[in-house]
Amino acid sequence: MCGIVGYIGRRDVAPLLLEGLQRLEYRGYDSAGIVVNSPKSGALKMVKAKGRVRDLEARVPKRFAGTTGIAHTRWATHGAPSDINSHPHLDPENKVAVVHNGIVDNAAELRAKLEAEGVVFASETDTEVITHLIARSQAESLEEKVREALKVIEGTYGIAVMHADFADRIVVARNGSPVILGIGEKEMLVASDVAALIAHTRQVVTLNDGEMATLKADDFRTYTTSGTTTNATPETVEWEAASYDMGGHDTYMHKEISEQPDAVDRVLRGRIDDRFNTVHLGGLNLDPREARAIRRVKILGCGTSYHAGLIGASLIEGMARIPADAEPASEFRYRNPVVDPDTLYIAVSQSGETYDVLAAVQELKRKGARVLGVVNVVGSAIAREADGGVYVHAGPEVCVVSTKCFTNTVVAFALLAVHLGRIRDLSVTDGKRIIEGLRKLPAQIQEILEQEEDIKKLAAQYADAKSMMFIGRVRGYPVALEASLKLKEISYIHAEAYPASELKHGPLALIEPSLPTVAIVPDDDLLEKNRAALEEIKARSGRILAVAHREQEKADHTIVVPKNEDELDPILMGIPLQLLAYHTALALGRDIDKPRNLAKSVTVE
Ligand code: M6R
Repeated sequence: MCGIVGYIGRRDVAPLLLEGLQRLEYRGYDSAGIVVNSPKSGALKMVKAKGRVRDLEARVPKRFAGTTGIAHTRWATHGAPSDINSHPHLDPENKVAVVHNGIVDNAAELRAKLEAEGVVFASETDTEVITHLIARSQAESLEEKVREALKVIEGTYGIAVMHADFADRIVVARNGSPVILGIGEKEMLVASDVAALIAHTRQVVTLNDGEMATLKADDFRTYTTSGTTTNATPETVEWEAASYDMGGHDTYMHKEISEQPDAVDRVLRGRIDDRFNTVHLGGLNLDPREARAIRRVKILGCGTSYHAGLIGASLIEGMARIPADAEPASEFRYRNPVVDPDTLYIAVSQSGETYDVLAAVQELKRKGARVLGVVNVVGSAIAREADGGVYVHAGPEVCVVSTKCFTNTVVAFALLAVHLGRIRDLSVTDGKRIIEGLRKLPAQIQEILEQEEDIKKLAAQYADAKSMMFIGRVRGYPVALEASLKLKEISYIHAEAYPASELKHGPLALIEPSLPTVAIVPDDDLLEKNRAALEEIKARSGRILAVAHREQEKADHTIVVPKNEDELDPILMGIPLQLLAYHTALALGRDIDKPRNLAKSVTVE
């Protein structure tokens, strides 16, 4: 969703900000804008454009010099995508410029009040309220003006503010929307995502909610919204700038699918303890006594992370013998759930920013629950709010659709399940068995990736389908759910996922030659049941593509994947279906990395 990038230093700022915006494109947006200040007069110059960053770039005049600037990619909430509604928003005297991520909940009320005082609004956005409040403040410093404005604002924000009368600084603030400072040599940056900073510096400060900062070219200062100094110290970002590049692949999605053997290797690294056939998870903050006292596990996430959570629940229930289930965080927070002190809540999020998940975590914590995070982005909001957790170490995932993060999240759940299991009921032998299985994963994933050409041919055969059915049983069902989500997100082919056991309770009515079914058919105790479902489909002349551990007679095609332990099979069975979705979308000419209507991090409700 929306992205912020800002710079103060000695370099020509416009190209640098435009490059930063390009790095944020993956998050999803509909318009973009930039403000720089004139080196001589300090006057603010602004360009905005509906559409892509390249449309904005085309509008930036040749003479657009400046050494301080802020820029933004907007994902419309209040007011349609348009040039006017794009950020930055300037006051009528062109003195104050604001870029904002988040939502001002009381914007309508504040707008009415300001209009009654004679303020004329240029846009329909909630953000413009912030600009006018700052511009109208009588406070002496820019910091104080911003603070005054924030006092009356309800909602979430990450903001960056420039003022023509305070040309030596950018003031930023955070409440619920990420703000990250990039600390350079005689230059400072700010962004809502490390991706926009990493080409310039790896020294970063992530602001906390309720924190502000003043950036000057050779100095930065952090403090709370009530003015107390916080003295934040920079941390080094682990990822190289190259992690955000396409690395020779045609799309980020393809790159990220291909990276999975290394990514899985990373999530396992340093965590396995062969002496006790268990797993160490440093950040869990859960001692064995506490682990033994857990009566239930409730996993919360959205979209793909929810699907990973479903597999996680079955791994935890199976290995640790603790009743566990997963629920979409977006639903959980609205149904006034019973919050039980003996339940361990686990919030799953690749980005660590998804609003519905974050809000669920905050509600749970308010009610005294213990919440762990299973998160990819280090230092993200959900990781910080949680009492402890497991980082999934997938590395930056740029494509809007999640692939390697899904896989690594499931592996992280397997590690957590072994950890909890070995404190409770998982035997040494079973602990060893699962650990050996986990170690096999990177090579087995590589084996699957080597079938890409065959999967591409299959995709060409199924790409004409108007709709597809995905079925799986027990552990296979979340795999079916995730595969169907992947296909619809990037190919726009309608897809449904059902438990195979539910077929005859309704969806069988849909089966006909033009509706292909993708069936998850592992070699486990349910193999015969799954085969029976294939028979039912075949009897209705349905086309079947099976993902299985051996050729399936009833299927028209079978993708054969290597066998691991039954518990870990779902991890491998999902991989060929990522490739199937990818090649189907490619055959249909879709914009794979930026599917329509979707954003990488859904930071609004
Ligand atoms: O960053 P998160 O894991 O919290 O994101 C949750 C979902 O928005 C996300 O998984 C979404 O479903 C992806 N587009 C999946 O490909």
